[in-house]
Amino acid sequence: MSTKHFLHLRAPGNWINDPNGFIYFKGYYHLFYQYFPYGPQWGTMHWGHAVSTDLVHWQHKGIALFPTKEYDKNGCFSGSALNIDDTLYLYYTGVKYKCADEENIHVPKNNEFFSAQAMITSDDGFTFDNFNGKKEIIPQINDLSVGHPSHTRDPKVWKSDDTYYMVLGTQVKDSEDTYKGRLLFYTSTDAVNWSLGGTFDGQIGGYMWECPDLFTCGTDDVLVVSPMGYFKDGLNCPDQAVCVTGAFDEKNCRLKINDNARPVDYGTDFYAPQTTTDKDGRRIIIGWMRMPEVVSDGDTQWIGMMCSPRIVQVIDGHIYFKMHPETEHAISHSVSYKQLHDNCLSAGYNKPFRIRLAVKNDSQINIGGYKIYLKDNCLYTDRTAVYPGDNNPRLVVHTPPLADKCDLDIIVDGHLIEIFINDGYDVLSQIVYNLTGAVAIENPASEPEFMM
Ligand code: FRU
Repeated sequence: MSTKHFLHLRAPGNWINDPNGFIYFKGYYHLFYQYFPYGPQWGTMHWGHAVSTDLVHWQHKGIALFPTKEYDKNGCFSGSALNIDDTLYLYYTGVKYKCADEENIHVPKNNEFFSAQAMITSDDGFTFDNFNGKKEIIPQINDLSVGHPSHTRDPKVWKSDDTYYMVLGTQVKDSEDTYKGRLLFYTSTDAVNWSLGGTFDGQIGGYMWECPDLFTCGTDDVLVVSPMGYFKDGLNCPDQAVCVTGAFDEKNCRLKINDNARPVDYGTDFYAPQTTTDKDGRRIIIGWMRMPEVVSDGDTQWIGMMCSPRIVQVIDGHIYFKMHPETEHAISHSVSYKQLHDNCLSAGYNKPFRIRLAVKNDSQINIGGYKIYLKDNCLYTDRTAVYPGDNNPRLVVHTPPLADKCDLDIIVDGHLIEIFINDGYDVLSQIVYNLTGAVAIENPASEPEFMM
């Protein structure tokens, strides 16, 4: 499979969701992803595989993991990667449906399945022996006071000193008929045999926590997690990826958080992100952009894409998500509005470009129907004109209050608009469909700069 993508990795065809096993290993960035290869909808999960040398040019490498064992016979759910002595270790959740839906064997009936944690290794990062190389490492949890037998998943693994750590997301009963999210921390001395070291049930919200990620950033620890049911407004799409600083006591596997968690990205589409370190040792994050509708490109039907990788930094207690220098470099050629129009806009927004400018409270930006404005010091976007159906009611979204003037660095790439606000102090990125027409900017606070 030789499909190549620039800037934003997207499904090679059919369906993708979460980024998995993101790592720089033996000269390549490896980005695996949740993949259903048989149709443009969620189903029996495989790990698709893409590689890049610069985080910008991605090449799909086909399927890395697929069901072969009793414990993963209905799917290889999300997980992470670690380089141990030049061998790639992948950790994931194997699932087995209690009973498959009779009309679609790729989904479980009543959302009931068994889950166990598993691993597989690879010497080169490209070949995976799905038949002989897998090992079940943490069997299904049956103690309901610890975690949920179906909903315990998404191992993120790291090493600190001589100990390996794993964090899993799960849920436990909160009352007679409600659940709350929980983290389970495991430790190991050999990365194969694991024991439960501690749990965390802090006040983050949501009834099930998916894709937890815990890492050190400067002098702080940062937790990123995707709580299901985070928004309590009763509208569709209540699941959000959030972040918070804290301190993890490795010896006792205890986590304390400093604050309320807040969304990683205010666009509401970004979910289930994963972090790793880039070749220069910077902490970077990439997330799945949830899409409401399948795109048809010629004879390829695809749904699901990744945002561009962002640098995570904690500055004065605030978690920044900054544009990666490789992304900046990839779209750094200044052009006039006419050149932008002739090369990108008139061709139906098929070529990525960037707009940099400052905005104030009466500024208005319209990018082919997608509106951006500052109101009461909050950055708003309105995608009513460029978003299909009524599946996601969050058409107008905004950041918390910022200032009466903000710097924006906006990447526009056909189906995805990413807005970096005040050098990544906040980010708001969103899926859009059918951008058409001009880019119009009224009352900017600085001369807009266009780049391709
Ligand atoms: C998050 C998630 C994970 C799970 C995977 C299944 O989007 O639900 O928790 O491992 O997707 O595809």
